[in-house]
Amino acid sequence: MPQIFPRGANLVPLKIVLVLAVLGSAVPAAMWYYWTPKYTKIGYQPAQPVPFSHKIHAGQLGIDCRYCHSFVDSAAHSNIPTAQVCMNCHSQVQRDNPKLEPVRRAFATGEAIQWVQIHKTPDHAYFNHAVHINRGVSCVSCHGRVDQMDEVYQAESFAMKFCLDCHRAPENGLRPLDKVTDLGWTPPTKSSELAALLGTTPEKLKLKPDATLSPANAQKIMGNHFKDLRGVHPPDSNCAGCHR
Ligand code: HEC
Ligand code: HEC
Ligand code: HEC
Ligand code: HEC
Ligand code: HEC
Repeated sequence: MPQIFPRGANLVPLKIVLVLAVLGSAVPAAMWYYWTPKYTKIGYQPAQPVPFSHKIHAGQLGIDCRYCHSFVDSAAHSNIPTAQVCMNCHSQVQRDNPKLEPVRRAFATGEAIQWVQIHKTPDHAYFNHAVHINRGVSCVSCHGRVDQMDEVYQAESFAMKFCLDCHRAPENGLRPLDKVTDLGWTPPTKSSELAALLGTTPEKLKLKPDATLSPANAQKIMGNHFKDLRGVHPPDSNCAGCHR
């Protein structure tokens, strides 16, 4: 810190004025940061035309997210599956279940099922799914445990702070590419197993071979490894990275 105030001079009143000036601008900035409208959208769970359960399909039946959300790793927007995808199974399974009537009707007429969209970023913020998925960011980081939800609800705020918190410390959100849709997966906490997963040795990670790590520490070590390996550098102070 450079010496701003000369030693000895009684500048307390000036200091107070300066502090107030800083607070005066910091408080509205903080409100802006935390109170963006979406912050209150956590838990948003609109009624859907078909009571489709992710808990049954993604959880119990273990269908991979990409079987239905097939564009999520190749396009900016993820897609909602057409009735055709449902009918791959439901032309055989649960053929008479009245809950599936809108699916059968949509399939017969070719009209889309009117699903209600839950997650939405405003037009002035750019988002791209494929970039995140292909760098090893799991759906769970942004959507929570969808595989345990009977009805999907919004799990995270999607306020600017939510995006920036990860962009400033992406090591907390990186994992092996083949675990991105495995929402319950966490890295091994035994140092030898973690090293093996990363194709290295505990010594090279500066760990004892028989150490047991906390889950948060295991994530950090793994995340930093992938951050370097994949050259990950998400936009944070560059406003145009997200506002284009
Ligand atoms: C890979 C096969 C498969 C696909 C694809 C599939 N389902 Fe299912 N679905 C099942 C099975 C199996 C069951 C029965 C589960 C049970 O009884 O525990 C089921 C059950 C259901 C039920 C009944 C749940 C209940 O509580 O009665 C609904 C509604 C449903 N599916 C909707 C859909 C919709 C909508 C789609 C498309 C977005 C879809 N399914 C795609 C296999 C599938
Ligand atoms: C069998 C097909 C199927 C599978 C498998 C599936 N989904 Fe979905 N998903 C849907 C359908 C249909 C909807 C629209 C209805 C709803 O919101 O529940 C949807 C909606 C969603 C939404 C909310 C979209 C919005 O409107 O904002 C998210 C998030 C989501 N899925 C994530 C996942 C994740 C993560 C997985 C894997 C763990 C997954 N889905 C697996 C069919 C599927
Ligand atoms: C880094 C955060 C992040 C990750 C990771 C992520 N999503 Fe999303 N998801 C979003 C945001 C933000 C939206 C709202 C998109 C918009 O407004 O265009 C969204 C919307 C969706 C939607 C609604 C359709 C759409 O694109 O608008 C579906 C379905 C979905 N996500 C599924 C998934 C699945 C499946 C995965 C994992 C394979 C996943 N998401 C991973 C942030 C994420
Ligand atoms: C859990 C971590 C995480 C979260 C949450 C997250 N991101 Fe990212 N984001 C990343 C990573 C990792 C990258 C890839 C950076 C790279 O390739 O160098 C990235 C890249 C981006 C990029 C650059 C894409 C490009 O084409 O250059 C944009 C824009 C972006 N994110 C927007 C968002 C927005 C908007 C949100 C909030 C809705 C968000 N991100 C939430 C981790 C995250
Ligand atoms: C990682 C992506 C990301 C970066 C980088 C980013 N923003 Fe944002 N910003 C967002 C998202 C997402 C929203 C929408 C939040 C919401 O829906 O509430 C947003 C919203 C805003 C808003 C509107 C506030 C509101 O009430 O919706 C302003 C103004 C803004 N950002 C300014 C900035 C400035 C200035 C910078 C550079 C210092 C910046 N942003 C950097 C993602 C980003």
